[in-house]
Amino acid sequence: MKIVSVVGARPNFMKIAPFIRAIAKHNQKKPANPIEHLLVHTGQHYDVRMSDAFFADLGIPAPDINLGVGSGTHAEQVGKTMIKFEKVLRKEKPDWVVVVGDVNATLACSVTAKKELIRCCHIEGGLRSGDMTMPEEINRLVTDRLSDLLLVPDEISMGNLRAEGVAESGMVLVGNIMIDTLDANLKAAKKLKVLDIISDNFNHEAFAGTIKEFGHDDQFALITLHRPSNVDDKKILTALTEFFTKKITREMKVLWPIHPRTEKNMRKFGLWEAVSDNSDVFILHPTSYRETLKLNSMARIVLTDSGGLQEECTVLGTPCLTLRNNTERPVTLREHNGASVLVGNDVKKIEKEFRKMLTMERRPFRPPLWDGKTAERCVKELINF
Ligand code: UD1
Repeated sequence: MKIVSVVGARPNFMKIAPFIRAIAKHNQKKPANPIEHLLVHTGQHYDVRMSDAFFADLGIPAPDINLGVGSGTHAEQVGKTMIKFEKVLRKEKPDWVVVVGDVNATLACSVTAKKELIRCCHIEGGLRSGDMTMPEEINRLVTDRLSDLLLVPDEISMGNLRAEGVAESGMVLVGNIMIDTLDANLKAAKKLKVLDIISDNFNHEAFAGTIKEFGHDDQFALITLHRPSNVDDKKILTALTEFFTKKITREMKVLWPIHPRTEKNMRKFGLWEAVSDNSDVFILHPTSYRETLKLNSMARIVLTDSGGLQEECTVLGTPCLTLRNNTERPVTLREHNGASVLVGNDVKKIEKEFRKMLTMERRPFRPPLWDGKTAERCVKELINF
């Protein structure tokens, strides 16, 4: 059996790493049905800190093919990926294309696979935010509608697919493959030191000569922000930045690894100076997987609009304010025993929940099958399909 699997952007890398390891494990047993595997990187993310650092950290082999698509509008990214991926499929003729997550690469490559009459498997199928203004929701809907095999992380997502009429034969609850990566890296991550992470990733351009000192026992909030709905609008990003720099810093330090999209907009909106001048706000470059895991495991609270961090907070038990009005991962919400609360980007609501969360302890929780063995189940389901 020949599989071409696809990655494009940062959140894909932690999903593909355990899948590739599980294929290697299958082949080591010298089975009658070895798997030939090719990894395609579409090149949507290309900065060392957004891509290469994750390959190194997670032990992912270098991609066999890089399509070099780069940044652009959605149509540009999807269109360029389809044109280049079609050539790969015509040459390689795989039995399966495996896509993960919900980025533009996921959509582009699932559509291309089906038009080339190649079976498509979606790892992380079934997630729905119900929010059609999110580019990822469109990517999820199209990919799931086209996929022959949906490998699903949780029961709520299974229910979404049933409600859409997906046949039971086309979907399997396998658990969350991200948590395979968390389990494989937590021990090494815990050995890292917060102070080293700060000094190795300190963004010196966000340092206006203000002395920033981080003590060994300092408590901190970890912040990550990159969704267009939070960072593309000047008013919204200004209000959020003011809350982080003026309110959170009264209680604790702020560690903020900044996504390139967010950095660009902060500079454009004139917000860069406010964070540079604040001695309690540490602007970092995007941190690696293990560094982020360490920071998450030590943070008093996480404020984020990332889907993956909501899941990691749930497993680590870190109180998490999700700066969105909806989530495709309701299993991570407190009402389902998770760690996260939806607060949108209304600062009043964020502040109220922030105060509440400061009184809460860590409460780790794992939904069924978030056990570190999801990738092996994915490989088994592909073989047995
Ligand atoms: C993409 C995904 C999103 C995911 C996020 C994680 C889609 C639709 N969105 O959003 O689901 O949560 O990745 O980061 O696929 N840039 C760089 N260097 C890079 C990559 C991007 O500087 O290596 C800058 C470029 O200016 C680019 C901007 O960041 O225009 C946005 O990148 P893009 O890939 O379009 O989307 P993300 O916001 O990263």
